[in-house]
Amino acid sequence: MKKYVLMVSFFVLSLFLIVSMGNAKQAGYAGYKKCGGCHKSQKKSWKDTVHKKSFTDLKAGKKVEAKKKAKLDPQKDYTKDEKCVGCHVTGFNKRGGYKIGLKKSKAKYVKSVGCEMCHGAGGLYRKEHRNAGGRHKKGKTTPRAKLVKLGMNVSTEAIENACYSCHMNYEGSGWDGAKEPYTPFTPKVDAKYKFDFDKAVKTEKGMHKHFKLKGVFTGEPKFKYHDEFQKNAEEGESAEE
Ligand code: HEC
Ligand code: HEC
Ligand code: HEC
Ligand code: HEC
Repeated sequence: MKKYVLMVSFFVLSLFLIVSMGNAKQAGYAGYKKCGGCHKSQKKSWKDTVHKKSFTDLKAGKKVEAKKKAKLDPQKDYTKDEKCVGCHVTGFNKRGGYKIGLKKSKAKYVKSVGCEMCHGAGGLYRKEHRNAGGRHKKGKTTPRAKLVKLGMNVSTEAIENACYSCHMNYEGSGWDGAKEPYTPFTPKVDAKYKFDFDKAVKTEKGMHKHFKLKGVFTGEPKFKYHDEFQKNAEEGESAEE
């Protein structure tokens, strides 16, 4: 009898592990409204970046000169073109993400290069942010490593790869993750499209401003500019709702 109970609990435990590991791999997208509800200052600042407006690039008559230079048709509507949309929205064709023909009310929060394209699909880790915020009120911190398991990009490598998946996604970019569809805007078209991560991650054109954290999350992995950004960060609205 004892043996039987042990076997059943082992089976249930394995099943639980398999299911939870499977989930971690495919966390869905939440959209910027969810993140922005708690991180109001970052949301406000992100809205001023080119990433917020990236979808309009695809419309006919927009960025005419740039399109001509890249041998694209400036009068064509590219907003429904599978070869373009993926890098100009959040979570293209993934759970919770943008799809061609998605209802306007839903599309609104994923029709831009949103929070989750840099920070990772938030379906799972956003709940941990809430829990960790609660624990912090009782004086406890939470290891950042926990967020990695829930699909958040926390390490330097993960954040770099997030940028590269759009900015370095073309043949001969030197990034070994490149796969079609490629970006039409490469340094061959114009030298200004060369992507320098260390410079790019510090421009206000592409990046939201940084605001002081309370230190709810601690430890490695930690982004290489985390401490620098925090040292120069502004006082913003607190992350807790
Ligand atoms: C329920 C509120 C809540 C939601 C929703 C939420 N967060 Fe957080 N988040 C927090 C709290 C609280 C912290 C800890 C802030 C601190 O240390 O001051 C945090 C921390 C962070 C950090 C800093 C982590 C570090 O290294 O210290 C990032 C980046 C972040 N959140 C991004 C996001 C993104 C992207 C989303 C949407 C997918 C999101 N958050 C959703 C509450 C939330
Ligand atoms: C692999 C990702 C990717 C794909 C696919 C992609 N783009 Fe982009 N697009 C980018 C990135 C990254 C930039 C920003 C380049 C920069 O300014 O350095 C960009 C910028 C643009 C711009 C603005 C260029 C400027 O100089 O202001 C337009 C217009 C544009 N894309 C249209 C398109 C069209 C049309 C397609 C499909 C034919 C497409 N994109 C496919 C990643 C992509
Ligand atoms: C989902 C695709 C995607 C991801 C991920 C992404 N970008 Fe972009 N980025 C774009 C597109 C598209 C544009 C062009 C927007 C426009 O001009 O309308 C752009 C524009 C920019 C620009 C302005 C370009 C210029 O010519 O000055 C900077 C800077 C930038 N991104 C930095 C970053 C950094 C740093 C990361 C990672 C932390 C990142 N991006 C992640 C798609 C992406
Ligand atoms: C183009 C990439 C990109 C986008 C888009 C983006 N972030 Fe960030 N974010 C970063 C980087 C890089 C950091 C620095 C990470 C660190 O210091 O650990 C950061 C830091 C943060 C932090 C930590 C505190 C701070 O201000 O530095 C929070 C919270 C955050 N982002 C929330 C958001 C939210 C909410 C959105 C969407 C409204 C968003 N981010 C969109 C790249 C991005």
